[in-house]
Amino acid sequence: PFLVKLASSGAAFEVPVGKSILSVLHEHGCNAASSCESGTCGTCRTKLLSGEADHRDMVLLPEEMDSQIMICVSRAKSDELVIDL
Ligand code: FES
Repeated sequence: PFLVKLASSGAAFEVPVGKSILSVLHEHGCNAASSCESGTCGTCRTKLLSGEADHRDMVLLPEEMDSQIMICVSRAKSDELVIDL
């Protein structure tokens, strides 16, 4: 598990094993855009402001991996991620 924090509100939610960042956000009423939910379409591309991502998508280029994350599939290597939502 890790924490995902929203830059706009400061709200932080725990993302448990087996659940995506996207589904945790949706559960808390955060209206993040998505489509494929399998890491291939790019719709859920979100700016990563801090923390280290565990990228599991097929979309991001290596040079984008420090600053962006696909929240439908990717997870965290750090204890917390701060995203621009
Ligand atoms: Fe398609 Fe995340 S919803 S890559």
